[in-house]
Amino acid sequence: MFELTTLKIPLVGVTESAARACAPYIGSGNKEEGDGIAVDAMRAALNGIEMDGTIVIGEGAKDEAPMLYDGENVGTGQGAKIDIAVDPIEGTNLFAFDNPGSICTLAAAPAGTMYRPGDCFYMDKQIYPRAAAGRIDPAAPVAERLALLADAVNKEIGDIKVFVLKRPRHDDLVQQIYRAGAKVKLLGDGDVNGAIMAILNQGVDALLGIGGTPEGIVSACAARAMGAEMFGRMAPQKDEEIAACERSGVDTVTWLHRDDLIGVDDILFVATGLTRGDYVNGVTMARDASGHFVTTDTIVIAGANGNVRRISTTVHQ
Ligand code: FBP
Repeated sequence: MFELTTLKIPLVGVTESAARACAPYIGSGNKEEGDGIAVDAMRAALNGIEMDGTIVIGEGAKDEAPMLYDGENVGTGQGAKIDIAVDPIEGTNLFAFDNPGSICTLAAAPAGTMYRPGDCFYMDKQIYPRAAAGRIDPAAPVAERLALLADAVNKEIGDIKVFVLKRPRHDDLVQQIYRAGAKVKLLGDGDVNGAIMAILNQGVDALLGIGGTPEGIVSACAARAMGAEMFGRMAPQKDEEIAACERSGVDTVTWLHRDDLIGVDDILFVATGLTRGDYVNGVTMARDASGHFVTTDTIVIAGANGNVRRISTTVHQ
């Protein structure tokens, strides 16, 4: 029987090569250029892998940015059928202005197991660590959920910290978190980072709020791989998106459980750091008389066993 884990190193190679390709543009102030280069490098690397892959979630449509297309076939076309969600640069502003937390990331799972969000670019997300799995009602008030979370992770409510994207749409949410007695880590971009930090217990205890749907599916893969809890609800924000979601009857009321977003345990989540991060280092470039050395740091979470690996690779260019 095919095991996804056989694709682990090839898929690490995909985010690594995208990171190496776009790293020279970190801090260039131009997010489109770096993103386009990461997309091209990711596509080329994916097409070198023996698999019959389909891009189920390709980032870019929301911002009309460079993208791998939803439904695009990748791989040699031979071998196992795989669903792939990609975000060649997660945190394009962080990348363009050399702020911490940008990554090249993807998730892979057997074909037919990833949720297809259709016309909806935005998702309301709730992510809690493994200790809280099965204990939180996503429809309960924020204060109630955070009290349950504190109990589950054995902390005082004042020690609970929630990652929230800094957006006007979250002003009320942030006030609700403060009123509950908890803290907020408010960052301008990068909610996959927030998700991974919550999932790995690295500096935050939860993620709440609305971000991109592609980022939501990638985060769901990481959450399920680690046994962490996640809920997602479609939350269209832009006028055209709201109209398209209404036309196609997208449900914006029901909270989907993590297992509705990704229907299998056999998942790989891969992320290579671009700029400095909380759980992966950024790309470093060194030079000597013989040329350039580029070092990348990658985290891989394998859902089959919940193992988390860090892989450091240095390539002489
Ligand atoms: P990009 O990498 O596409 O720029 O996304 C950054 C990000 O902050 C994501 O982490 C988040 O899910 C999304 O943007 C939120 O979208 P918006 O900036 O439109 O609120």
